Amino acid sequence: MNKLLKDEISAGLQSSIPFISPKFFYDDIGSRLFEVITHLEEYYPTRVEKSIMQMYEHQIATSIGACDVLLDLGAGNCAKASELFDSIKPQQYLALDISKDFLESAIADLQKRFPHIEMRAQVCDLSQTLHFPNLENKKKTFFYPGSSIGNFNPNQVSSFFKNIASICNGSGGLLIGVDLVKDSQVLQKAYDDSLGVTAAFNLNALLHINHILGSNFDLTDWEHFAIFNESESRIEMYLRALRDVSVTWPDNSLNFKSGEMIHTENSYKYTKDSFTNLLDNAGFKNIETWTDPKNYFLVCYAKA
Ligand code: AVJ
Repeated sequence: MNKLLKDEISAGLQSSIPFISPKFFYDDIGSRLFEVITHLEEYYPTRVEKSIMQMYEHQIATSIGACDVLLDLGAGNCAKASELFDSIKPQQYLALDISKDFLESAIADLQKRFPHIEMRAQVCDLSQTLHFPNLENKKKTFFYPGSSIGNFNPNQVSSFFKNIASICNGSGGLLIGVDLVKDSQVLQKAYDDSLGVTAAFNLNALLHINHILGSNFDLTDWEHFAIFNESESRIEMYLRALRDVSVTWPDNSLNFKSGEMIHTENSYKYTKDSFTNLLDNAGFKNIETWTDPKNYFLVCYAKA
């Protein structure tokens, strides 16, 4: 198993505020659990984003114009991008995600339904700088739906947007969905659903880590905790120790006191202005926005 990943996890767990990066949610089971989350009544982002995309499909397609390559950042099961194929008509589809197996089976299914689009899957970590040397002269539409951008802090969002704008090099753009600030009860329920799927999704990170690190986290020692931090405008998720716990893995061990928490995710929420300002500052020239009647979610197309 990858030494870099082990070191990364090990350092996070031993840091003064213990943390696990949210990218470790997405092993095979985690990707499936996330898919279930998107079907929950309490988890509105996926459903509301889809309604906005459907409602404004033609406007969005008109703003984008011709598209050589659709680059799907964090493609998951590729369902969202596939709904754009008929209106945006990309010649190529490049699906990027952190989970290789999940992505490849999704692409294989999709290729059968859209044989005329050239499809490729590429494993990538979006927290790293992106490069697409093979696509230099193509008009690129980056697609980053689902408020996945919410996992980045605002500084990381700035660099990410600048990275995309520079890859676009004056043509194409970024179609992105982001969750908006709203009543904190609504937000908290979306991250602490009554079926306990989000709890399972959060806890599964420990199983994934046991697998990579060879650690012995016992799920019965931990509980899911999610809270909206208003001053930082983000949902924070943690795993909280239900008792004093000791965890061991090759060459290491760590003790947690009852009530101690491991931070697993930030999910930032924006206002329309705070978000479009970030796009603006990154150098995008023309920013169009669409939202739902309750202003729960925002879809933007930012032209490079
Ligand atoms: C995949 C990052 C968009 O923040 O809403 C869902 C992940 N975490 N429920 C989000 C998530 C808990 C999700 N993103």
